[in-house]
Amino acid sequence: MSRAALITGGAQGVGAAIAARLLAEGFQVVITDVNEGRLAQETAALSKLGRVEAMVGDLRDDATPRRAVQFCADKFGSLDVLVNAAGDVSRASIEDASLDTYYRLFDINVKAPLFLMQEAAKIMKMQKSGTIINVASMIAQGGPPNLAIYGATKAALVQLTKHAAHVWAWEGIRAFCINLGWAFTEGEQRTQTKVHQMPENWGELIGAQTPAGRLILPSDIADLAAYLISPSARMMNGTVIDFEQLPAGVFRTHPILKS
Ligand SMILES: NC(=O)c1ccc[n+]([C@@H]2O[C@H](COP(=O)([O-])OP(=O)(O)OC[C@H]3O[C@@H](n4cnc5c(N)ncnc54)[C@H](O)[C@@H]3O)[C@@H](O)[C@H]2O)c1
Repeated sequence: MSRAALITGGAQGVGAAIAARLLAEGFQVVITDVNEGRLAQETAALSKLGRVEAMVGDLRDDATPRRAVQFCADKFGSLDVLVNAAGDVSRASIEDASLDTYYRLFDINVKAPLFLMQEAAKIMKMQKSGTIINVASMIAQGGPPNLAIYGATKAALVQLTKHAAHVWAWEGIRAFCINLGWAFTEGEQRTQTKVHQMPENWGELIGAQTPAGRLILPSDIADLAAYLISPSARMMNGTVIDFEQLPAGVFRTHPILKS
């Protein structure tokens, strides 16, 4: 029987790239997202690769995690992989964070992955197998002032991943966290051009200053996700991967400070 994956934030960026990779590897995939139009577009594109089902849902809504897991179980009869890729990147510092932004960030980046893991684990425990991949951020370890609350949410996600890996290890479930570095995605393009007024080609300009000469691409993250899900990673669990071209805390040659 084909294995099934549930991917949040699947309408674009990292989530969509992981969906494409898993479909190419023979998975059946549910992508879920709040952006209905983009989700429909991406579903049409991905359906050329395999069986993909879409569920529109806002992760701020308490009911969405259970609904998404149930949707996957109803469509495919199993749940082998959960990828929490959806994320909110609202800017807020310790000094200017509003309650609204605080709740928005924590609802989408922490509450939703927590309850998605909780619901998914019920099925994975029965199956005695499953892989969870949470997409956190290098900012979980520190960063600019305006990413204080975002960083706190991603640090919380790192911690929850480790607890998940511990608690469910004997049930055949492995959990991983990707501390993603600066990646060129649709969401990041919007943030950099609309929020930070960077030029349209900011990605090329910043990428040129990195060791690889380019920013991370969604397909790079899909490569890592495919490895973590594969039998090659069978002896790893609870691993938090810093997925960036420079180690955390290295500032002198960091592209942000050079620009
Ligand atoms: N791009 C980067 O540089 C970068 C760096 C570190 C971490 N990350 C993390 O990677 C993940 C993916 O980011 P991306 O760059 O692909 O972003 P993106 O904006 O391109 O994609 C994120 C998707 O999540 C969806 N989403 C947002 N809020 C939602 C909600 N309330 N309910 C349901 N879906 C919702 C969006 O509609 C979007 O399709 C996020 O968790 C982000 O925090 C990104």
